[in-house]
Amino acid sequence: MSPAQQPEEAPLVSAGSDPEDRAVEAALRPKNLDDFVGQKRVRRQLSLVLEASRLRGRSADHVLLSGPPGLGKTTLAMIIAAEMNAPLRISSGPAIQHAGDLAAILSSLTEGEVLFLDEIHRMSRPAEEMLYMAMEDFRVDIVVGKGPGATAIPLDLPPFTLVGATTRAGLLPGPLRDRFGFTGHLEFYSTEELELVLRRSAMLMDMKVNSAAFAEIAGRSRGTPRIANRLLRRVRDWALVHGIDLIDAGSAGAALDMYEVDEKGLDRLDRSVLTALITKFNGGPVGLSTLAIAVGEEPETVETVAEPYLVREGMLGRTPRGRIATAAAWHHLGLVMPPSVAAAMPEDLFTAAQEEEVSGGDPAEDWMT
Ligand SMILES: Nc1ncnc2c1ncn2[C@@H]1O[C@H](COP(=O)(O)OP(=O)(O)OP(=O)(O)O)[C@@H](O)[C@H]1O
Ligand SMILES: [Mg+2]
Repeated sequence: MSPAQQPEEAPLVSAGSDPEDRAVEAALRPKNLDDFVGQKRVRRQLSLVLEASRLRGRSADHVLLSGPPGLGKTTLAMIIAAEMNAPLRISSGPAIQHAGDLAAILSSLTEGEVLFLDEIHRMSRPAEEMLYMAMEDFRVDIVVGKGPGATAIPLDLPPFTLVGATTRAGLLPGPLRDRFGFTGHLEFYSTEELELVLRRSAMLMDMKVNSAAFAEIAGRSRGTPRIANRLLRRVRDWALVHGIDLIDAGSAGAALDMYEVDEKGLDRLDRSVLTALITKFNGGPVGLSTLAIAVGEEPETVETVAEPYLVREGMLGRTPRGRIATAAAWHHLGLVMPPSVAAAMPEDLFTAAQEEEVSGGDPAEDWMT
């Protein structure tokens, strides 16, 4: 979506960050590995990498963090620096368009510093090539002058730890990926884990919330801490306006119903896609553009905003003949899939959907493969 088309306000359940998120996230970010909820495997492996480097008295291996937005990559990068007791330098792929930009950052690093490069897949090619050498040999060649007279002046760098983050690990060139000593792939969180995230946030925000309400909000958060924290803030607003002190499941549910986020975390657009698919096309298959017209949206919006989560939840299938609503979608809307529709469903629906993913069906969703 081009910036001009971007809706003023991102959907409540989108995983990307909006300005409000960025303003409050710093306060909610866990500061050490023990406070970081979930991601057990990554946490355990990372803690080993950091412990080993502390024992060796050396800076830690370079770390690559990959996974969908809002799952904790930036948070982990900050934790790594804190756990290593090292200063943290933050930059990002889009900010480094020339090799010179990177050279300036690298040459000013101090020993043991942690360099966090967010959206590392968006760095320019020349910068990337400079990074290879810096990561491997702690050295860069600074090119002075132009044309035949140009000379490369080698510059030694102090040992540092690069932490790269990407939502698109598949886009990273092999040579770059190979230079990371450790890669942590972040997974979506379980409802129980999100309850813990919410519990912690509610405490920091001085809210009174009971266990059932945490479960209610967590269930609607699409496996994503950023969304969980955002929904918690909307519930807080609702409780404040309604003069409610202790938030229970009823209040949390009512608040989120008002914002049109349902029990499974589907919002209005998600539901209207499923409703159109089922009521207008008897569950499909129907082509993307026809489906988009039926819900009054651009095909791109349906494909990139609504579909990824519906596919992930197994409610929508992408087949070579078009989009299909699965039995789970009928069920979610309180309907029963008629036997004739069930009989016509391709048996390999999910395989077909996945195959399309692999063949680049939706470039924005490479973590789903
Ligand atoms: N494991 C966790 N425990 C507690 N809170 C978490 C955890 N992971 C993420 N959060 C919360 O979710 C918010 C978003 O996390 P973060 O900014 O690290 O995501 P990200 O993966 O960097 O997203 P993006 O791809 O958009 O940059 C943080 O403010 C933090 O409060
Ligand atoms: Mg981030």
